[in-house]
Amino acid sequence: MNTKDYPQGLLFSAEMQQRVRDRFCNVDSDSFGKRIFFENSGGSLRLKSCIQAVADVDSHPDCPGRHQAQADVLDAIVKKGYDDLRIIFNARSGAIVTCLSASQVMFNIIGAIANNVEGKNMVVSVLEHPSGFDSVEYYAKQTGRELRVLNSNRNTGCIDVQEVIHNVDKDTVLLSCMYSSNTTGGVNDIPKMVQAARAIKPDIYIIVDAVQHAPHGLIDLTKLDIDVMDIAPYKFFACRGAGVGWVSDRCAKLPHNRILCYGEDTWELGSTAPHQFAGYSAIVDHVCWIGSQYITSNDRRTLFEEGIHRIKLQERGLLHRALEGTGTLPGLRSIPGVKVICDNPELAQRDFILPIIFANLDVTVATKEYIKRGIYVFERKSPSHYSKRIVESLGLDGVIRVSPIHCNSPEEIDAFLKATIEIAQL
Ligand SMILES: Cc1ncc(COP(=O)(O)O)c(C=O)c1O
Repeated sequence: MNTKDYPQGLLFSAEMQQRVRDRFCNVDSDSFGKRIFFENSGGSLRLKSCIQAVADVDSHPDCPGRHQAQADVLDAIVKKGYDDLRIIFNARSGAIVTCLSASQVMFNIIGAIANNVEGKNMVVSVLEHPSGFDSVEYYAKQTGRELRVLNSNRNTGCIDVQEVIHNVDKDTVLLSCMYSSNTTGGVNDIPKMVQAARAIKPDIYIIVDAVQHAPHGLIDLTKLDIDVMDIAPYKFFACRGAGVGWVSDRCAKLPHNRILCYGEDTWELGSTAPHQFAGYSAIVDHVCWIGSQYITSNDRRTLFEEGIHRIKLQERGLLHRALEGTGTLPGLRSIPGVKVICDNPELAQRDFILPIIFANLDVTVATKEYIKRGIYVFERKSPSHYSKRIVESLGLDGVIRVSPIHCNSPEEIDAFLKATIEIAQL
């Protein structure tokens, strides 16, 4: 299917919506009571199957690689987890790198590139999370390179390809640009950026942070000539305590910390955590389950692609409803006193990570008003190091970030709109 054929998205049927919701923990409420969770960019609602698998697997004390049968089971879980990570990336080559967080993944890999690749400057986008920005800034300083920063487009919340063309040159060591922004939801045109950067410097190292995009849109490394990508399972319906990276063959071979008995392209250090790998497989099982409700295939990646397309269309449908309303309820674009930031009319270039502001309310005050009404959102606000550079590049000092996922429902969007109307009148 081509998701571009549905510019306003395509919501799940009511029955499918309910079946999807049933697969998530704490979807309507938690131990504090009823609430609507629109804070999935901070850490997503969790799959029941993931929590169950993680607990089951981690209840076994056995080490993988021992003689007892339990060890074989754990080995198989880890192997399947690695295979499933490759399904997410569609990675046919390269190596997988796992750490405790996506930031650790990023710092380790950027360090290896900066320390071993020649060149005079390093290029990073202004919209990066500190994991992507600070790692480049830190290693540029350490290795005496000029730091160049790609500016954001305030209309789209993206980085224009033109910025890449202006900043990359024959002396650029690396270019780091995220797939979609954790603040604006803008999806960058990574294929065009890669093409533009490689036209200037064919062997430039290209790094793409896909932490926010992965739960909302398809990743296909067979179509992207890049060197590094990372994701965060806890933003992708699974558990905290892990970050996952992929590195190209040439990047994998760069000198890096490693246990010396393994191949020079092995990045994994120390004991594996089989339960985490069971969690990665639970993500892929879930997305494939969605795919299998629409198509029949024996190929896991084919089902995964269909599942992600359906997720994308459901979320686009929710985004369209939030922006345009329902006929009886006004959408955000027409509620007086509310402004949607980076409101690109082309919804196909957006993930549902929505920045808004109120004319008369500070973003923290407004966020707390949402929480009082049982709707959990979060503010991205200066001077927080995690937000300042990004919101200031948009000409703002803060935004309220609204970030549902596919298990959220049209009814929850309507409740959010009603709360927004109330808050705008305070
Ligand atoms: C786009 C993006 N990249 C990287 C990260 C860092 O993830 P972690 O907290 O696992 O280091 C985040 C976390 O919010 C993020 O939104």
